[in-house]
Amino acid sequence: MTLSSRPKIELHLHHEGAAPPAFIKRLAQEKKVDISRVFNEQGDYSYTDFWDFLKVYEAATSVLQTPEDYARLTRAVLAESAANGVIYSETFLSPDFCGGRDVGAWREYLHAIREAADQAEREDGIVLRGIVTCIRHFGPEKARETALCAAETAGDWIVGFGIAGDEQAGKPKDFAYSFDMAREAGLRLTAHAGEWGGPDSVRDALDDLRVERIGHGVRAIEDLALVDRLAEDGVVLEVCPGSNIALGVYKTWADHPIHALRERGVKVTVSTDDPPFFHTTMTDEYDRLAATFDWDEGVFEDIENTSLSAAFCDQATKDALKKRLETR
Ligand code: HPA
Ligand code: ZN
Repeated sequence: MTLSSRPKIELHLHHEGAAPPAFIKRLAQEKKVDISRVFNEQGDYSYTDFWDFLKVYEAATSVLQTPEDYARLTRAVLAESAANGVIYSETFLSPDFCGGRDVGAWREYLHAIREAADQAEREDGIVLRGIVTCIRHFGPEKARETALCAAETAGDWIVGFGIAGDEQAGKPKDFAYSFDMAREAGLRLTAHAGEWGGPDSVRDALDDLRVERIGHGVRAIEDLALVDRLAEDGVVLEVCPGSNIALGVYKTWADHPIHALRERGVKVTVSTDDPPFFHTTMTDEYDRLAATFDWDEGVFEDIENTSLSAAFCDQATKDALKKRLETR
């Protein structure tokens, strides 16, 4: 079986960050919004570094203005994921962008996204679940409102709560109230850390937010005691190698620590983060990992099983997905 046709599980994807550039451009034209700084001459997303990326991301997202826009986005994103063999995807959704953190408006956006996802599941067999995500550089007060949106819609579709954005803004502890609210509502927890922050940022996310997964987490490799803690506690890393290389966290694929982390017993998974921004797809990630670290089908099978057990969806959904992984 080729790597492209292997059924894949993706746990770390930003919904707006997965928007094809042509889709955003078309929406900007329809709405007569000038977002020319978002694109380069080739029509690709254009940014200089991570912090500029966040600005460009928010500018691109500004054309997504209604629940119907998010329904169209969901169809475009899932078509692309399904074409790369993804059978299950967890996507980060931000009530900051979907209705300005108003619970009633957020419900409207969510309804539209879920309807589009149901259609994609019927047509392409891809299953989507949502992780409500607060945005670190928007601050702890807005995060509380976001957590309320998450708590109000927690269930079998909104399955998790997380934090994205500028990892260097504030401290995880500032967001503990929001994570407590989400946990009390039954949501599973993940946090971006250990990408722009060092090992201490991963420790803080574990200790102060009590998350069970870490988005990225790769810079834990700079502290082997922390690596051993991750391995012993079974903390799952949502690793996005192509994203790390595109943004310059590591210079080359050979420099990336995913293989070393795995060798030392850490549970690693593979995702794309914001695929068109980073010129990647799930198939590309698999191809590059196989070529760089000589990973064979057994390694990918192991990673897919790790991803499935670390997914935040319910057991019935996992059982159905497991069958699809087994009949590949
Ligand atoms: N990292 C952090 N925050 C983000 C990202 C990302 O890749 N995409 C959107 N918000
Ligand atoms: Zn991310």
